[in-house]
Amino acid sequence: MRRGLIIFILVNLLILSLLIRSVSTLLSLLLEDASADAIHRSELPSPNSSLIETRPQVIPKIIHQTYKNETIPEVWREAQQSCIDLHPDYEYILWTNEKSREFIAAEYPWFLETFDNYKYPIQRADTIRYFVLAYYGGTYIDLDDGCNRRLDPLLAYPAWVRRTVPTGISNDAMGSVPQHPFFLRTIELLQQYDRSWLLPYITVMYTTGPLFLSVIWKEYMQTRPSEAGRVRILMQDEYNRFSWSFFTHHKGNSWHGKDAHLIFWMGQHWMFLTFLGFALAGVVGICLWWTYGRVMLLGAKYRYRYSKVPTIVTSPRSSSSPTRRARRMVPTFFRRVSFKEDEEARGPIETSYELGRRED
Ligand SMILES: *[C@@H]1O[C@H](CO)[C@@H](O)[C@H](O)[C@H]1NC(C)=O
Ligand SMILES: *[C@@H]1O[C@H](CO)[C@@H](O)[C@H](O)[C@H]1NC(C)=O
Repeated sequence: MRRGLIIFILVNLLILSLLIRSVSTLLSLLLEDASADAIHRSELPSPNSSLIETRPQVIPKIIHQTYKNETIPEVWREAQQSCIDLHPDYEYILWTNEKSREFIAAEYPWFLETFDNYKYPIQRADTIRYFVLAYYGGTYIDLDDGCNRRLDPLLAYPAWVRRTVPTGISNDAMGSVPQHPFFLRTIELLQQYDRSWLLPYITVMYTTGPLFLSVIWKEYMQTRPSEAGRVRILMQDEYNRFSWSFFTHHKGNSWHGKDAHLIFWMGQHWMFLTFLGFALAGVVGICLWWTYGRVMLLGAKYRYRYSKVPTIVTSPRSSSSPTRRARRMVPTFFRRVSFKEDEEARGPIETSYELGRRED
């Protein structure tokens, strides 16, 4: 029985350490300010600056966007057009469902099954952008983001992503050279993260979406990438707040809106949520303890029924039913059980089989 207790404690410790390990990256994301890799406004040439031309541009001049088919809804057409108009010298690729699938089948056949089996279309829209950036390089822009100025200054970094608070980074605008180690790692880990988390938005966020990318990013940074492997961060101000920012935001993408609200709320209440998490873990622990007690109790009952019973039991008609007696035992449970084992070990003692007969 002592062995049972030790196993119980070990299993609990194991579960607890796995829990802590699995949320540690998430918790550390909340503390990450990304300042080490931030693209500072001072290093960004103004929209018409001659400095732009002097910086080597390593990211290819390609703009990637995604939509299910070629018919882009009116709400986003203006945003799309603003990007196309500002970049006549860039190649523009719209990744429709059909085109995306063909691309994965041709270039990344090992991923095709996972790609086809994603439950939500947005997961495919999320993943295709990582693959095309890893393959072609270029700049990916969500359809609801319009362009406010030419992207050239951002082509000077081997890879860049956009900062969001509090999740870490977003996947709605990103740039990269082909075969950048960060995006290679991202596509490599997609299958490992492909799990259902019951709630659709958590599943999407954590299997392919911004939360997934943020976790990969956080872990990637711990590998201390070289200058060429660095992922630079476009901070919020540079994104869409000012006239010199790169993008404009157009309404219409309800999915990301809802998402952002939830994540924002979670970020604001993370202290409370962490506390709640530990409280929950405590309750689960107590339930496990209780279940363990019940299982042992059943074991004890079983023993009463089928094995010898100490003579202490005098009257079969006594109010102490096996169940009740066993229940009373629970608090001093381990002592009692080992005591009983000791008795058994001592060899035959006088026993009564009364309880066995009461089994009706
Ligand atoms: C940059 O130049 C374009 C045309 O050459 C002009 O329309 C635009 O206002 C200029 N932008 C700034 C910020 O000076
Ligand atoms: C694209 O999808 C929309 C809505 O599902 C549909 O109305 C439209 O006809 C489709 N366009 C093409 C070219 O298939």
